[in-house]
Amino acid sequence: MSAGIGQDIQRAAAILSEGDLVAIPTETVYGLAANAFNADAVLRIFQVKERPAFDPLIVHVHGMEQLERVVATVPPEAEALMRAFWPGPLTLVLPKSPRVPDIVTSGLDTVGVRMPAHPLALELLRALDLPLAAPSANPFGYVSPTTAQHVADQLGEKIPYILDGGPCTVGVESTIIGWEDGLPVLYRPGGLALERIEEVVGTVRPHVKQVLPVAPGMIESHYAPRKPVLVGDVDRFLREHADERCGVIAFRNVHDAWQCETLAPNGDISEAARRLFGVLRELDASAADLIIAERFPEEGLGRAINDRLRRAAAKR
Ligand code: TXA
Ligand code: MG
Repeated sequence: MSAGIGQDIQRAAAILSEGDLVAIPTETVYGLAANAFNADAVLRIFQVKERPAFDPLIVHVHGMEQLERVVATVPPEAEALMRAFWPGPLTLVLPKSPRVPDIVTSGLDTVGVRMPAHPLALELLRALDLPLAAPSANPFGYVSPTTAQHVADQLGEKIPYILDGGPCTVGVESTIIGWEDGLPVLYRPGGLALERIEEVVGTVRPHVKQVLPVAPGMIESHYAPRKPVLVGDVDRFLREHADERCGVIAFRNVHDAWQCETLAPNGDISEAARRLFGVLRELDASAADLIIAERFPEEGLGRAINDRLRRAAAKR
């Protein structure tokens, strides 16, 4: 089997309603989608991605009516965030409805939900009228896909259809917010700047409670190319690896290296986020021996970029 690629919403809807998988575009990264109410279909996601069952999925909805079938309650702060940022790159972790199968949430009593800001994804969700469970459409642990071709390169033989919505405009996964003891916490920095979220709900703390039944560090290595990745003082790393082919990822500077990819010469951090995963894939596929990245400013989308680079560099 080799995946069809196209813009056929009806075809995508038919495949999903039969319990099979479709890769879908979102503004952040491509997702590997299944009917969130069909446990067998969701199980296929874990098989295709080779994803461990303890890592819960995000459920995608097209609006508030659909959200009410997925969550048990919508606290006022969550509603304020939805009103401010949906559709958009923000996932909220809320108490789950009993209708959502345990496999979606890895047995947790909460579910991650978001409304994606992509016209094709929204059209599909409306046509199907089923919520879609969808993690990023990459093999577990590898760099997330930001084009239909990225999906085809890695999962093309395993799924029937890829809905092609063009290159993702945000380029890093959604920001994930939940609540601990009634206070907002950050589970994952992402495509919506924390500063903007704090304008709505006040200070958001790092999450402290262990939500997943795994030892810390087990999924530290993530978003990872096959080649070694070093993050930090680029000039020092270039001196230390002077005899090797170094592929460099920089924010706005140009480094004298075997190859240097400057993500945003004009300093636009959104552009840097949009290009990050594509450049990681390119360097991974190139003749480079290793990948060296700058550390980005730890604010706005820079936080998400640094998080992904740190995990890309974590030892497996
Ligand atoms: O932008 C995105 O969020 C993309 C697109 C496709 O929507 N999806 C995505 O999914 O990045 P994935 O599977 O790669 O990341 C899902 C992560 C899990 O690894 C977990 O950290 C968190 O979401 N998550 C999901 N449900 C959760 C829950 N109930 N409690 C805490 N964290 C949860
Ligand atoms: Mg992922």
